[in-house]
Parts: sequence; structure tokens; C-alpha cells
Amino acid sequence: MKKILVTGAVGQIGSELVEALRDKYGNENVVAAGHRTKPTEEMKEAGPFEFIDVLDKEEIESAVKKYNIDTIYHMGAILSATGEEKPQLAFRVNIIGLYNILEVGREQKLERIMVPSSIAAFGPDTPKENTPNETILRPTTMYGISKVSGELLGDYYFRRFGLDVRGVRYPGIISNKTLPGGGTTDYAVEIFYEAIRNKYYVCFLKEDSTLPMMYMPDAIRGLIELAEADINQLKHHSDFNLAAVSFSPGELVSEIQRIIPDFTCDYKPDFRQEIADSWPSSIDDSAAQDEWGWKPEFDLRRMTEDMIEKLRIKLR
Ligand code: SER
Repeated sequence: MKKILVTGAVGQIGSELVEALRDKYGNENVVAAGHRTKPTEEMKEAGPFEFIDVLDKEEIESAVKKYNIDTIYHMGAILSATGEEKPQLAFRVNIIGLYNILEVGREQKLERIMVPSSIAAFGPDTPKENTPNETILRPTTMYGISKVSGELLGDYYFRRFGLDVRGVRYPGIISNKTLPGGGTTDYAVEIFYEAIRNKYYVCFLKEDSTLPMMYMPDAIRGLIELAEADINQLKHHSDFNLAAVSFSPGELVSEIQRIIPDFTCDYKPDFRQEIADSWPSSIDDSAAQDEWGWKPEFDLRRMTEDMIEKLRIKLR
């Protein structure tokens, strides 16, 4: 039986991943772990919850032993914008934290570690359109540097120690359950809340700043599908490009206006614009398609309709 530990379980992706994993493997078999933010009652009641500081290797180790864990989904991380405000913290949490997870994985002979990377692994010198899986990785943010390090470490632990580490380069993730925190793509979530509440939003990126994005159901399904893929089919491990849709704030505004016609948006780019400018606008994910059959389901229109429908209920 699978015994899974999810770090970052109270975060944007973690909170929905825990739910999906509990549906699939059973509530008791998925241990949700957060750092300091309290879990929702729903998460705590459904199954085990632990507070873990990933900078404390012993805390990770004792949870792994206590629950007989064989798989870790390591979702705990500092995102790009917070990472530029607090680069030292981002270095410690994202690089030392991951190192601790990998070391526990190696020592406890875990079956698998899932670690998300990001489009932030790319940088200003990377080709912007249809960015290939194998390309220039010279990020200019601490977050990006930590993600490239994570990919290289993951592949190193696989080659050197036989630890099965897998990961995808996520684009910006859009979801209606838990808000993202401290990312450059957060506008694409905030905009929906403001469109429904106030019919007005001030976007911190430029109108034509196109970035790769993905709706949460695709993001969760993709990661679990990769975790379950036959290892013999995989040529890549920790660095799969993953794509769904690409759009600019202006294009998203037009889609939202189809449903909320009097919604308006102004653009006041801040320091996050420079981060966005260093990332690609679209991604080639043929390696993920070929090696484990990746296929996104949500395009911009379907995602926008679903977001507004779900958020209208939530914000009632
Ligand atoms: N959504 C993330 C961020 O903006 C990218 O991985 O930081």
C-alpha cells in the first residue's frame, strides 16, 4: 500500500493535491504536512496532518518513520516574487529543504520523490517560443536558480543513488480553492476574484505579457500520472516541460469579459514584470507527451468558465 507524505500541503497546489491523493489512495495513507500555516478543518479531519519544517531534517525523518512513508510529494517552496524579496530564505527553503528531503529519501530508501520544477528554471537567454525541454537554463531569480538546482539534484540522486526522483516544470497554476502566495503568475488567479467581487482589477504585469499557464485539475492529474508512469518509459526524470495554455493578461481579460461584460482592468507593472520578462511565453512539452502520455484538458475558455462558475459559488 502506498504511504505518501505531502509537504507544502496547505499551499495552492498542495491543498488540492492532498485531496486528490486521498481520493485515490485512501485518507489514512496520505499525510499532509505544512510549515506554520494552519490546515483547514476539512484537511485535518480527513486524514493525518503534521507540522514539518523542511529545514529540520529530523522532523522529516521522524514523520517518514512514524507513518512508514514510501513516497514524498515535496511541494513546500518559496515562490518567485517572495524569493526576490527574501532571496536568502528562498535559497534555504528551496535548496537546503529539498536536499534534506532527498537525503531522507536516500537514507530511508524511499520508493519515490516527486518535486515540481517551474518555467522559472528558464531565463532571459532561453528561446521564448515553444521552449524545448533541453535548452539554456540560466535563470536570473533565486527561485529559478533553486529550481534548476532541484532538477539537477533530482537527476543526480537518481543516477548516483537509484532514488526515483521525478518532476515537472509547472507553468503558472490557476485554481479556485487556495490562493497562491508570492508568485509572478498570481495575477491570473487574483483577477478572477476581483472580476467577480468588484468588476475591476489592477494587474501587476503588462497587458501583452504572455506566459504559459495551466488549470489546477490538469496540474494535479499531470503530477500523479508522472508519479505512476512506468520508469522504463522515462528518459527524463526531474525536468519535464509541461504545457497547457499560454495567454497574456489582455487575453484573459477579454475571456472574462465574455462572461462579465462590464469587467475592466488597468495595468500597473511592478517588479514582477522583470521576472515575467525572463520567462518563456510558450513551452514544448513533447517529452512529457511521448514518455508518459501527458495531455492537458483545459483551454483558456473552459478554464475561465469553470473558474467563474466555481468562484461565484464560493464568494456568494
Ligand atoms: N507560479 C510560479 C511563480 O510565479 C512559477 O513557478 O513563482
